[in-house]
Amino acid sequence: MCGIVGYVGKKQVADILMDGLKRLEYRGYDSAGIAVVENGVMNVRRSLGKIRLLEELLIKKPIKGDFGVGHTRWATHGKPSEENAHPHRDCTGKLVVVHNGIIENYLELKQELTAKGHKFQTETDTEIIAHLIESNLTNSLEQAVFKSLPRLKGAYAIALISTEEPQRIIAARFGPPLIIGVGNGENFVASDIPAILHYTKNMIFLADGEIAIVDQSSVVVKDVRGKKLKKEVMPIAWDPIMAEKGGYKHFMLKEIHEQPRAMRDTIYGRISLDSGAVFLNDIRITEKEFKSFKKINIIACGTSLHAGLVGKFLIEELARIPVEVDYGSEFRYRDPIITRDILHVVISQSGETADTLAALREAKQKKSKSIAICNVVGSMLTREATGTIYTHAGPEIGVASTKAFISQIAAQYLLALYLGKVRGHLTEKDVRAHGKQLMRIPAKMEELLRREGEIEELAKRFYTSKDFLFLGRGINYPIALEGALKLKEISYIHAEGYPAGEMKHGPIALIDENFPVVAVAVKDRVYEKILSNIEEVKARSGIVIALTNGESSELEKRADHIIQIPETLDLLNPLLLIIPLQLLAYYIALKLGCDVDQPRNLAKSVTVE
Ligand code: M6R
Repeated sequence: MCGIVGYVGKKQVADILMDGLKRLEYRGYDSAGIAVVENGVMNVRRSLGKIRLLEELLIKKPIKGDFGVGHTRWATHGKPSEENAHPHRDCTGKLVVVHNGIIENYLELKQELTAKGHKFQTETDTEIIAHLIESNLTNSLEQAVFKSLPRLKGAYAIALISTEEPQRIIAARFGPPLIIGVGNGENFVASDIPAILHYTKNMIFLADGEIAIVDQSSVVVKDVRGKKLKKEVMPIAWDPIMAEKGGYKHFMLKEIHEQPRAMRDTIYGRISLDSGAVFLNDIRITEKEFKSFKKINIIACGTSLHAGLVGKFLIEELARIPVEVDYGSEFRYRDPIITRDILHVVISQSGETADTLAALREAKQKKSKSIAICNVVGSMLTREATGTIYTHAGPEIGVASTKAFISQIAAQYLLALYLGKVRGHLTEKDVRAHGKQLMRIPAKMEELLRREGEIEELAKRFYTSKDFLFLGRGINYPIALEGALKLKEISYIHAEGYPAGEMKHGPIALIDENFPVVAVAVKDRVYEKILSNIEEVKARSGIVIALTNGESSELEKRADHIIQIPETLDLLNPLLLIIPLQLLAYYIALKLGCDVDQPRNLAKSVTVE
């Protein structure tokens, strides 16, 4: 949902801004721009389309300077166009702003400022910020910012510069993420860590309502009342190479291949195969409290929600607590019943998804304890939840979530084992047995990834299909949902995930000889049932691609194509089943010539409602 970057220091600012924007492009990619100050003159370059078009413009019309800001856009107010691309200027052109989020009262402010004589050039909500600050500019830029921000309603992160205050960026966070990179004689502002990780590993995470005054050799953070805050500079353990493509054609493919590593990093050190202990260091909820919970609400969006649906099966089976799973975007609008004996588990790769955050706040307001399962250290979700289980997937850049998904399932497996043990449903021996199987998963994932070619061949066979149905039952029903989501978001092919037993209540009407059905048919307690569902598809001449494990003669009689996955515990199957489905979506999208890492209309972090 838009990416912001800013630099103040001695290096060529345009190069650093462009480098940062390329690494933030996953956040939005309909237009981009940078503003750089050189010898007191503000130079702005903007372009419709992807960052490379801005890059081409800069080759033709270069700009130099030593402080500036940049932006990559995902349109909310105003169509994607060069005019609507950020940075946006005030009337004088001396002050520019870049913005991520939405200013809800912009029309009202626009009318007010227009009446005062301000001239607007764009359809965006962002432009009013520049004019509002201009209208309050009597003394310093900082004072004008502090006077202006209380007038803005909505969720936003901004960074602004002025020719009148050289070597200074003012940045503010009221919702979407914003971090400050602390360097040596240089400082950075960015929406996300990978944008500046090549230059510094020391970051300050701004919290909601914080304003940073970033100069070349100092960073001062204040609250809205102007009170100076003591902020911790946090060292980031991620290696910058982790945020590169590493020889793969796309981030998505690289991230699919990183899943064995992501899985190892998420589970290793958290479960002892000797003592059967589970270590969840940051949960900040006592064993006594864990024993008292009567129910768990899992809340998330998109792929993270699908991981949560798998988590429901894990927790209910291993800890015997009822679990309800809800969309972040629905939860707070249905006046949910929240009591102190309900634990809320919020799942998010980014930790910044607006709907998930709002749901967490609803639970918090009603005094319920919460655990964030999150991939980004210091993100909003981890700050606001009672405790956190970090997934150690590493930076996920591809818009289609892959390695975050398996890490979220792994983290919930650990939570389920921990809960099961604390609540007396599992013995140490049980935990050790589960732990052993869990530890074997990364090697089994590697085995599957070595057979990538098989899936590529299937993709060649099916990439012209117009619709797909994905079927699963029980714990593998969420895998059907996730397989369908992966396919539709990156290939734009219509796909639906369905509980296999429900097919006869409607979707069966779609089936004909051109309709591929991907059926998860592993040897678990519902294997026989899914075999019958496959029969139902075949009886209507549908094409069946079945995923199974172990001996498959029964299935061979029915399915057109079989993908074998290594055998493991029933509860662990989702971690393996999703890999061929991610690869199928990837290779189909590749064959169709789609932009795999940056699919149309999407953004990596959805920081608006
Ligand atoms: O950062 P989050 O996990 O909270 O993001 C949630 C969804 O926006 C995300 O999973 C989205 O559905 C992905 N594009 C799926 O691949």
